[in-house]
Amino acid sequence: MTQEAGGRLPSGPAGPGLYGECLFRPQDEGEAARVDLGALVYDATTFARLQQLGVGPGMRCLDVGAGTGTVARQLLREAGVAEVVAVDRDIRFLAAEPVAGLTALEADASGPGFSPGLFDLVHARFLLMHLPSPARMVERLAALLVPGGVLVLSDAVDLTTEGAPRTPYTTAMRAMWRGLRETIGTDVSWVPSCPRLMVAAGLEAVAAEIHVPPLVPGSPMSRFWAGTWDRARAAMVGTGLVDEAGIDEAKQCLESPQFAGLSPGMLTAWGRRAVPPTTPS
Ligand SMILES: C[S@@+](CC[C@H](N)C(=O)[O-])C[C@H]1O[C@@H](n2cnc3c(N)ncnc32)[C@H](O)[C@@H]1O
Repeated sequence: MTQEAGGRLPSGPAGPGLYGECLFRPQDEGEAARVDLGALVYDATTFARLQQLGVGPGMRCLDVGAGTGTVARQLLREAGVAEVVAVDRDIRFLAAEPVAGLTALEADASGPGFSPGLFDLVHARFLLMHLPSPARMVERLAALLVPGGVLVLSDAVDLTTEGAPRTPYTTAMRAMWRGLRETIGTDVSWVPSCPRLMVAAGLEAVAAEIHVPPLVPGSPMSRFWAGTWDRARAAMVGTGLVDEAGIDEAKQCLESPQFAGLSPGMLTAWGRRAVPPTTPS
């Protein structure tokens, strides 16, 4: 097996492919189930944060890169928001289960014509890490807020890639991040600076938190990583950091009661658009 010494996050040139085209294609069997495993892990954390930020009845919400729509549906069902516009480059999973108040909008959020209106909440989870120019995307999404509206962005952080002992699991994770970088341009190295990007975009009351879910055999998180490695197998092997047998060994680790690895987690950052001061009449 070929391996590299350090465990730095990949910072080389981004591959030219797109999420949903050369990897994680929505038409591939089981892709909705894979995305739902991630949602199962993170929905409670996301929803608790949205509620703490005051998301509730009457609000107009935008969920960008909405995937299967679990956050959009929970906002309507449990927070009682007025409307959710759920945007994705491919809306087949959103359209499959229509719900009152949910508008599925097929659009490229990074494209020049993206202008879905103004919202009280703009949310995107595990989207910006797959797109070029996160700073420009933060600016663009911040510009979709009404005064007082809140932008909430979640992306992956990985505490195992730097300085962690080399194991089959950490080797597979490093190969995955590098493989995603080299094929579809995925980059999580900027994620810890997301709060700073929000301040630079003019947002106020910016803060952030991290949730790292436990890796337990058979858990949705373990199954999500095993399924993600299966889909990204060629990209991972193509990095030269791992081979097929190494990926299988890492998958076996995920299922072992002896395994004690740290999963990548989710950094959520939020900030509000300022309310202009009222001028005395
Ligand atoms: C990793 S999934 C996350 C799905 C969902 N936000 C969640 O957390 O469960 C990323 C989603 O973003 C969508 N996506 C990727 N690039 C996009 C773009 N340029 N514009 C809109 N959606 C995009 C993909 O189709 C996919 O549904």
